[in-house]
Amino acid sequence: MEAIRSIAIPPLTPDLERVLIDADTIQRRVTELANQINNDYANITEPLILVGVLKGSFIYLADLCRKLTVPHVVDFIAVSSYGKGSETTGNVRLLMDTRENMENHHVLIVEDILDTGYTLDYLVRNFIARGTKSVNTTVLLEKPDRHKVHVDLKYVGFTIPDVWVVGFGLDYGEQYRTLPYIAEMKIPKKK
Ligand code: XMP
Ligand code: MG
Repeated sequence: MEAIRSIAIPPLTPDLERVLIDADTIQRRVTELANQINNDYANITEPLILVGVLKGSFIYLADLCRKLTVPHVVDFIAVSSYGKGSETTGNVRLLMDTRENMENHHVLIVEDILDTGYTLDYLVRNFIARGTKSVNTTVLLEKPDRHKVHVDLKYVGFTIPDVWVVGFGLDYGEQYRTLPYIAEMKIPKKK
């Protein structure tokens, strides 16, 4: 895993503190993760189902799946883990289900970031209950200081400190998702 580099960014985006992970570093890491996945699933007999967790994973998923050489299909799921307040409750709600029937398939859940772990914990349990052959997880980012429940993470891009990050799919109030790098927001790190 590469060290996180800190780069000063020009003042055209005053809400951003600094770039945590630049675009080239992300691409190199995504390639490494895709290579691991290609190795690990080299012998599967039916397509791997990639399930992107909307919305934050869409850019990571798009880059990852284009580097896969193993047979795969792309699907999405939408969940919400935030009750009425601003803090994570652990109450995960299914907003939109997958289209694929996952029974007897290998599934890889693709997430942008693991924070408390509630979302992925819910999804892993839910998918296992559907009679899948296997359920694994990949996250671009994880914040170890924030974990509340243990989740087995199979492919992790980068470990980051407990700060609010945006870019490469991640947002603050739906802004900044399409930045090609991961940046730290200046504003409070709450949800
Ligand atoms: P849990 O706590 O269930 O939540 O692991 C994971 C979800 O929380 C969101 N999240 C973030 N989104 N910048 C974001 O844009 C962040 O720093 C951040 N931390 C957590 C995200 O939606 C993730 O899927
Ligand atoms: Mg998310």
